[in-house]
Amino acid sequence: MTRFIDVPQLASLVRAVGAGRFMTELAAAIKADYLRWNDFDKTPRLAAHSARGVIELMPVADRSRYTFKYVNGHPSNTALGLPTVMAFGALADVDTGYPRLLSELTLMTALRTAATSAMVAQHLARPAARRMALIGNGAQSEFQAIAFHTLLGIEEVSLYDIDPAATAKLRRNLAHTVPALAVSCAASTAQAVRGADIVTTVTADKAYATILTPDMIEPGMHINAVGGDCPGKTELHADILRAARVVVEYEPQSRIEGEIQQMPADFPVVELWRVLEGSVAGRESAQQVTVFDSVGFALEDYSALCYLDQLAQAHGIGTMLALVPPAGDPKNLFGATLADPDRNPDQNPDPARHAAARASAEFADITADASPSW
Ligand SMILES: NC(=O)c1ccc[n+]([C@@H]2O[C@H](COP(=O)([O-])OP(=O)(O)OC[C@H]3O[C@@H](n4cnc5c(N)ncnc54)[C@H](O)[C@@H]3O)[C@@H](O)[C@H]2O)c1
Repeated sequence: MTRFIDVPQLASLVRAVGAGRFMTELAAAIKADYLRWNDFDKTPRLAAHSARGVIELMPVADRSRYTFKYVNGHPSNTALGLPTVMAFGALADVDTGYPRLLSELTLMTALRTAATSAMVAQHLARPAARRMALIGNGAQSEFQAIAFHTLLGIEEVSLYDIDPAATAKLRRNLAHTVPALAVSCAASTAQAVRGADIVTTVTADKAYATILTPDMIEPGMHINAVGGDCPGKTELHADILRAARVVVEYEPQSRIEGEIQQMPADFPVVELWRVLEGSVAGRESAQQVTVFDSVGFALEDYSALCYLDQLAQAHGIGTMLALVPPAGDPKNLFGATLADPDRNPDQNPDPARHAAARASAEFADITADASPSW
């Protein structure tokens, strides 16, 4: 049987653990997987572009687990009452191909993106960073604020969005969830970023936008550029990149989708895993401007699905689905599914009993395999 986790089930799990702790543990899992970089079969994601957005498939595998995520990006969706980003995905055993877990990944994408942003900033921002500007106050924004408060000790955040209702929503949610975080609302991006140690841009617009321009950048800033993540969709003026140290997740994908799509093919970048393992410096001086050109890489969803798999078992969360045929004679798919049990009882011996036995045997297997480490 395959464990299925829907949005309410994941939400209850995150509430039980606490969003801050969830993202802290997830950030550690993502970092640990980046440190095993050469264990993974990697590929840029497969994108289907249309006038309003993009739908992407993001597969990755090591020797024991295969994962994929389906995710869209449609900035005009919010006008239709739909999220800009929606996602789901699966985790399978490489040895057998058996799908262990099928999960919602919309909430999980917000959690893993924020966890990744904050983990990267731990390596790139100045250690004394306490002030962040948050430009773009939509679905991802609360998660970014909570992750930076929890993992980096950010104490003040200044908000700006062209939609004042989005900013009001973010301020309200943060006041309830992280009262220790001092929140202010700015009248413009330029005002929000003034004096910030870290600037997170997480806007949605299918355009070569210039949310940040060179005149807004101060020495030593770390820019966490999250919203430019597909061809024709950027947030930073090219001169900011020219003057900064730019870190990317997976260079072949970031050249197509990241801020660096604006730059020549030989524009120098550093892959994140090298900074994490310490073979290449992250920030080189206190005055240097650093940019994390985030587009989201399949490895982060692999970490998220593996973490979720363990956590869901430990908390008994999820619904067991007959996503693949029940056990029995594996060569007799017809008998196990379509044969008429009244006419040919041997072909289909009590499928309900069979499915139940299979479910409990597999559940025991999965549970025995679990080694929760938190
Ligand atoms: N890098 C990653 O791993 C990753 C992961 C998830 C989402 N994203 C991207 O992050 C972005 C935000 O996602 P979301 O789910 O929060 O979308 P959302 O639509 O919920 O929020 C986007 C916000 O940006 C605001 N905005 C648009 N243009 C702006 C501008 N010029 N200045 C200030 N604010 C502006 C909108 O008003 C909106 O409130 C999207 O572009 C999405 O594709 C990236």
